[in-house]
Amino acid sequence: MMDDARLFRRTDPDFPVTRAVQQRLVAAGRVEGEGPLAVRAAAASAGTPQAEHATMPGPALPEPDGPSIPLGETGRGTLHLDLNRLLAGRCLIQGSSGAGKSMLLRHLVEEAHDYLTTMIIDPENEFENLARHIGAATIRATELAPDGLTAAASRARQHRLPLHLDLSDLEPDERINKAAAFFAGLLAVPREHFANTVLVAVDEAHLLAPHLAASARDAETRRLGVATMTDLCSRGRKRGISPVIATQRLAKLASSVVSEMHNVMLGLNVFDRDITRAGDLLGFGSDRASALRDLRPGEFYAFGPALCKLPTLVRIAPTVTRHVGATPDLVASADVTPDEARGLLDLDALRDAGRAASPVLPVRGGLRALDGFLLEPHAADAVRIVAALRAISPNATTAADLARHLGAETDAIHGALDLLGSAGAVDTMPRGEARIARLSARLRLRGSDANVVGLV
Ligand SMILES: Nc1ncnc2c1ncn2[C@@H]1O[C@H](COP(=O)(O)OP(=O)(O)O)[C@@H](O)[C@H]1O
Ligand SMILES: [Mg+2]
Repeated sequence: MMDDARLFRRTDPDFPVTRAVQQRLVAAGRVEGEGPLAVRAAAASAGTPQAEHATMPGPALPEPDGPSIPLGETGRGTLHLDLNRLLAGRCLIQGSSGAGKSMLLRHLVEEAHDYLTTMIIDPENEFENLARHIGAATIRATELAPDGLTAAASRARQHRLPLHLDLSDLEPDERINKAAAFFAGLLAVPREHFANTVLVAVDEAHLLAPHLAASARDAETRRLGVATMTDLCSRGRKRGISPVIATQRLAKLASSVVSEMHNVMLGLNVFDRDITRAGDLLGFGSDRASALRDLRPGEFYAFGPALCKLPTLVRIAPTVTRHVGATPDLVASADVTPDEARGLLDLDALRDAGRAASPVLPVRGGLRALDGFLLEPHAADAVRIVAALRAISPNATTAADLARHLGAETDAIHGALDLLGSAGAVDTMPRGEARIARLSARLRLRGSDANVVGLV
């Protein structure tokens, strides 16, 4: 149980205490059971899950016998998450986009942070206000190298500091690398800090431990991500780490991670394959599993030693903090004319900006291709040809006119046109008397509004 000092810890002034703390304060006679939190709690307990999905009538769910947090209402009373058993068995949250996973994580962190240090792993930067609410420091992964993240995670464990790791604005493989470095820091603490228990809430976990690599180059990174998250789950228990991880599809998340999960919460699913896999985890036959298709956002089947002995449908209670990742309401496009739109976009300025910044020839294939071009004997003539063609674009001209205009040998012009043709920078034809050339569509798009129609 918490001592009184922790009951009155400082949190976001807008949300002085969580609902669980409020309930304990009321029970202890410390405050009246009124105010927005009490009203919210009453509203939450009034809403039971959809009647057609309600679990079979049965005995009321047992009262929790250790530290636990209320998750929401079932047909058999309030469902609690037992935090000691969560440490032993971790928890997987799965449901398609919009099932209510992020909100469930939010609710869980709001309620759990009074009992253990919480870490929020946030690939989409959705939880910053939650971090403020629980007094967690936000670390932007873009600002720290992997070694720095490892050190920060270890220090946070040592000092029992809640953290919010913002993994947004990173390339997919960088995100995996940095999350893995952070997890490694959580695991690699001296034995005397194992008692500093942490709950690690990971949203969109398939981004950090994907089942498949996007490309052969990513395979190494993926292996690192999967190995570290599997470690976090399997070796975390003895080190005082409770991972709770959310994912959209079981098929996207590495199976070695899924198989570590003894507690599951499965929400709305739409694809047959997902329904079958989710049903398997719950021990549902295909008839019963199809109920997953009809769940509403915030409804989950919960099952496992930290939750309940039989799969039970629960409606997750509302959160105290505002959910940031909510789907926005539909808004019609602005009522402006095409001319006004052009002005708002400032298209002319954009065209100029592109022209100033971009090289004359595209550098497809990177620096290697640029090097190859620069070493070509006809490179200098090629650049002059592009400048000349650009002046008359979108018109074409003959190789003979180009030779005259540039004061170059016809052979040199042919060589340069061959080079430009092979790079796709000009449209031209094989060498010959009637050879003509014009700037390729790709370069024409970069713009020329010249009125010149021919070379002199
Ligand atoms: N417990 C809940 N009670 C009521 N509505 C919910 C609940 N959880 C989610 N929702 C609704 O579903 C929407 C999507 O939830 P979200 O957590 O973002 O889904 P996911 O992370 O699974 O994509 C929320 O904006 C909210 O409107
Ligand atoms: Mg989400």
